[in-house]
Amino acid sequence: PNYHHQHQSGSTPWRNPLRSQGLSTRRELYERDFPVYKQPVEVGCFSLDSERRFFNDSRQMRYYVEPDRNPNFDLKDGYKDRFVKRDDGEKEKLDNILRWIVANRSKLDSRETTASSRALDVDFVTWRGHLTKLLTTPYETRDSWLLAVTRFRGTLYISEVETEAARRDRENRTERNAEMMYWGYKFEQYTCADDIHSLPDPSGVVNTNEAFCTVVQTRLADHRLLFSGEVDCRDKDPAAPAPPACYVELKTSAEICTPKQRSNLHRWMMTPGMLFVEYLMYLHSDVLKLIFLIVLVLRFKLLKWWAQSFLPGVPRIVAGFRDHEGVVVSVETFHISKISHLIKNEYNCWKPTVCMNFCSDFLSFVKHVATEDNPSVVYLFSWEPHRDVTFSIHRDSQYSFLPHWFIQEMTS
Ligand code: A3P
Ligand code: MG
Ligand code: MG
Repeated sequence: PNYHHQHQSGSTPWRNPLRSQGLSTRRELYERDFPVYKQPVEVGCFSLDSERRFFNDSRQMRYYVEPDRNPNFDLKDGYKDRFVKRDDGEKEKLDNILRWIVANRSKLDSRETTASSRALDVDFVTWRGHLTKLLTTPYETRDSWLLAVTRFRGTLYISEVETEAARRDRENRTERNAEMMYWGYKFEQYTCADDIHSLPDPSGVVNTNEAFCTVVQTRLADHRLLFSGEVDCRDKDPAAPAPPACYVELKTSAEICTPKQRSNLHRWMMTPGMLFVEYLMYLHSDVLKLIFLIVLVLRFKLLKWWAQSFLPGVPRIVAGFRDHEGVVVSVETFHISKISHLIKNEYNCWKPTVCMNFCSDFLSFVKHVATEDNPSVVYLFSWEPHRDVTFSIHRDSQYSFLPHWFIQEMTS
């Protein structure tokens, strides 16, 4: 409960004079009490249709239809002939969130009610995916990131910039990788219906332009956040709790029962890392055995899954496990709150509190650095594994990302 006390005690990593130009990402620095994270509240939603056009409504919402626990979903089906792929070279930046803001200004309380100052009542506007990257940064060893920040009318807008390495990866994707990216969307098609009374239609086209996005408001420590994230589907029961509690995140993963993975697992269980309690559970329950197999083998993948859903308050993940042929052969449901609990007892594992404290300190760092309120100034924050977060400042550059229509709308 004393997060604020600790926060003000001078131990914040970027207040360390030796690091005055950067922010450390070392895990030990963030092992404090869990910061305040208010229950996210959905303040709206929007949809992107098959041509990526914006609609200020929920027309692209889909409904979860629980599959057989041991289905036979061929994820390769339709890749060649029933797949319309979104152009991921087209950078949309924050545009769709900004469109939503413009269409819903009245819903967003103003700090001041005078006509001359109609600023948003939030500190940060960004995509959920950008926050996910921040949460996982203390544990990331491979991918670097670049985040552009602009302060405009008191609010800090955060928009990702593609790194050179990410661009190379995107442009040189192997055929196998390109196909595997399709598999996740195909799984969604097997498990989602377009309305409450219909069934999934695996004979249809998979079009990755289509999206339903939730917009949520919440607070992390003293940072008021407004962000949006794509939601895969919702519980089709009309009596289900209100959004975001009725939302379901869908994932696919390689099955964990190949001989090699099994032997890795057994080797791991011979180590002190295998806690005694878990060992007993492992012996006594088939269901728990499966869950622990999954938790052990997926532990770092699970970090990304947890972060993505925890942020907007999505309580459930449904995971489809596929064999090497790309056929989903088993389906498991994970509850986000249980993941945090399971992970707490893991030796040498990622910690939710480290993720959240790092994110909170990064946002404080951004507030401290990005002081000039000017839509054409970008503070570019940059991070590579095993380094500190650093920044550079750019005026009227290629990095500017707030569109003129948005600036005009917000200043009129
Ligand atoms: P999986 O989740 O089954 O991997 P999301 O899970 O966020 O709803 O994304 C849906 C699908 O988009 C993913 O399914 C995956 O197929 C694809 N995808 C999303 N982000 C990706 C990334 N960074 N690299 C490769 N594929 C990605
Ligand atoms: Mg999705
Ligand atoms: Mg998904």
